[in-house]
Amino acid sequence: MTLKFNLAGNSPTNLRFIETERPVIDETREVLASLAQNPPRLSPKYFYDSRGSELFEHITELPEYYLTRSEAEIFDVYLDEIAEALGSGDIIIEPGSGNCSKVQPLLERATPSAFVPIDIAGDFLWEAAATTALTHPNIAITAIAADFTQEWTFADEIPQGRRIVFYPGSTLGNFDPGAQRGFIKQLAKVVGIEGGILLGVDLHKESTVLQRAYDDAAGVTAEFNRNMLSVVNARTGSNFEPNSWQHQARYNDKMRRIEMELVAQSDQLVNIGNQTLSFAQGEVIRTEHSHKFTLENISDLASAGGMTVTHHWLDRQSQFCLALLQTA
Ligand code: AVJ
Repeated sequence: MTLKFNLAGNSPTNLRFIETERPVIDETREVLASLAQNPPRLSPKYFYDSRGSELFEHITELPEYYLTRSEAEIFDVYLDEIAEALGSGDIIIEPGSGNCSKVQPLLERATPSAFVPIDIAGDFLWEAAATTALTHPNIAITAIAADFTQEWTFADEIPQGRRIVFYPGSTLGNFDPGAQRGFIKQLAKVVGIEGGILLGVDLHKESTVLQRAYDDAAGVTAEFNRNMLSVVNARTGSNFEPNSWQHQARYNDKMRRIEMELVAQSDQLVNIGNQTLSFAQGEVIRTEHSHKFTLENISDLASAGGMTVTHHWLDRQSQFCLALLQTA
C-alpha cells in the first residue's frame, strides 16, 4: 500500500482496536525442546522479525516464487465470481492480516459490513487497520492483536452475522496435516453453519518448479532461512553463527511438502540458556515445512470442519487454488 495518512494519534470512528493478554512463553525452553527433536527443528515463527518480513516481501517478488502472483491473478480474473459466491454484508475475518493488502480487492468488491484483521504484531496491526478504516469508511473494523494459533479467547469480539474467514497465501501449508485439520475445525466453529472459509493454498506440482521457488538464484530465500538463526539469537541469547549454515530446500514428494533446512558447514558448539549443543558438520536443522495440496486434500480438510468445497478457482497455469469452504 502506498497511501499513507497522517493519523495524528486519532483513531478513525469505524475502528475498534482490541489487545488480548499475551501469555508469557519461555522461548529458550521452546527452542531447546524443538532442537531436541529428530531432526532438530526450529519454528517458522522465528523467520519474521523486521528483517525477515522484509526478506519475505522480497521473496514474493522473485521470478521463481510464483505463489503470491498466482493468487493475485485469481483475484484479478475471478473477483466478480468470488464476490458473488460470498454475497454482501459479510463479516470478513483475516488471521495473520499483516499489512492488510491481500484483502483489499475483497473489501472493495464484496462489500462486507465488517472486517476483522487479527495479527500478533500489535503496532503494525494498528497502522494497517487504521489505514484500511480510513479508506473504507462504510466497513466496521475490529482489529484484534492476538496469537491466532492459540485458542480464540477473543471470539466474542467478532461481530455476529455471516462470517467468512479469509486465510490466503498458503499459510496453512506451514502446519503439519494434523494441525491443518485442527485449525480448519476451529475456524469452522468460529464461522458457524452460516459461514465459510476462503482458503488460498499452493498446489502439488513438479518438484523442480517447487524447489526453484524455495531455492532462488539470487539467494534471497537462503538469506531468509539463515536470518532465523539471528532471530533465535536475539530472542534467546544463543550464539548461532548464521554464516556457518547453508540453506537447503527439497521437495518431499511422498509427504507433498518443501522441507527447508539449515546444514552445518563445520562442527559447531552453540550455547542456549544453560546448555551447550553440538552440531557435527553436515547436520541439519529443519526450519520449515511448506505443504502442497491436491484438490482431494482440500476436500478432506473441508470435511474435517464438517464443510464442503462449494467453489474453487485456479490461476491460468493451475499452480495455486483459492477455495470456498461452506457447511453443506
Ligand atoms: C509464508 C508460509 C506461505 O511457505 O511459501 C517462502 C514462506 N518460505 N519461502 C511459503 C516461505 C520460504 C511461505 N509462507
